[in-house]
Amino acid sequence: MDMTNNKYLELDKKHYLQTFVRYPVTLDYGNGSHVWDVEGKEYIDALGGIAVNVLGHNHPKLVKAIQEQVSKLIHISNFYLSKPQAELSQKLVNISGLDRVFFSNSGAESVEGAIKIARKYAHSIGRGGEIISFKGSFHGRTLATIAATGKKEMQKGFEPIPGGFQNIPFNDIKAVKAIASKETAAFIIEPIQGEGGINLVNEHFIKELRSFCDEQNIVLIFDEIQCGIGRTGKMFANEHFGVKPDVMTLAKALGGGVPIGAILSNQKVSSAIEFGDHGTTFGGNPLACAAGLAVLEVIEDEDLLINAREKEQWLKNKITGLNLPGFKEIRGKGLMTGIEFDFETKPLVAKMLEKGVLANATAGNVLRLLPALNIKTHDLEKIIEVLVESIEDIK
Ligand SMILES: Cc1ncc(COP(=O)(O)O)c(C=O)c1O
Repeated sequence: MDMTNNKYLELDKKHYLQTFVRYPVTLDYGNGSHVWDVEGKEYIDALGGIAVNVLGHNHPKLVKAIQEQVSKLIHISNFYLSKPQAELSQKLVNISGLDRVFFSNSGAESVEGAIKIARKYAHSIGRGGEIISFKGSFHGRTLATIAATGKKEMQKGFEPIPGGFQNIPFNDIKAVKAIASKETAAFIIEPIQGEGGINLVNEHFIKELRSFCDEQNIVLIFDEIQCGIGRTGKMFANEHFGVKPDVMTLAKALGGGVPIGAILSNQKVSSAIEFGDHGTTFGGNPLACAAGLAVLEVIEDEDLLINAREKEQWLKNKITGLNLPGFKEIRGKGLMTGIEFDFETKPLVAKMLEKGVLANATAGNVLRLLPALNIKTHDLEKIIEVLVESIEDIK
């Protein structure tokens, strides 16, 4: 039987909606930070399914939790309660310091829900429904979230784009104050921009933004879909800055690979939501919630936040000491790392793939690494070795 990477590439070209530029690699199975393609070639995974596989692949506790839940109940609808959903809700509320949670199935869906909650609250106090986001941000690919993302390339061809969204410079408090009006419902911000190139919010700015939103009674939404759930060496990125949002969106790592999103909100904003205001069929089903619970437990039990912080330091020291050709800067927190070069990083990523490392290019000249939080030092060493060789090859 033909089991080559190319066989599946050809099937994909024939049948799948051609919207992703695929690498010619068909992955078959994984273990920890390693994955294998259908031809048996091994790769080290420094991308983690784009910040999803925080526990790596095939973590025994996650697999066990999913298997046990599958054999009991997969789905029941939100007309009834389930133990995993009730327990995950309690856990998320306890660790986030927010008061209420709603489960969705993806990041974009979480942002959509957050926008609805913010608007409902804003209208309840006589404000308008405008949502202000920041340049370089990414909030998803649905219609409202491409409007919030504010990138013209992502909106082109999909007009009319939903109204009520504006986009202002990142880390600029003057722009915040200049745009705010009675029409403003909420600001939405990623404390660390992921797709935008691993750009950290300025601590002074985010504190000023929080105070301004408090003064004006404007909702502050943190999109922690990429930077939340341990990615930055804290359970939530906002803990680095000591600033709490009114609403927070999560997805990606929460299910360790099982699709689940969450919207958390404080009591003030949540109180505007009435029965029937929002809903979902799949969101928060027992299977996804059992996976979420297992992920959070493993992060705590296996000290993965500490590991992420230790590996951050190790990686930063190593990379800065290497004097890589074209190297400009390494930034990020925990294992959310951007390495900026003075050249386009797509060819670099393609070369690294050839040499057995999955990584990602973002924002043109940034190499993004989002490995599992339990990645081992020897795997990081190998990633760096491949990085060095790949730069030599493409230069
Ligand atoms: C910060 C942020 N928000 C929203 C999204 C959209 O998430 P999803 O692709 O699950 O819809 C992403 C995905 O990359 C993201 O990084």
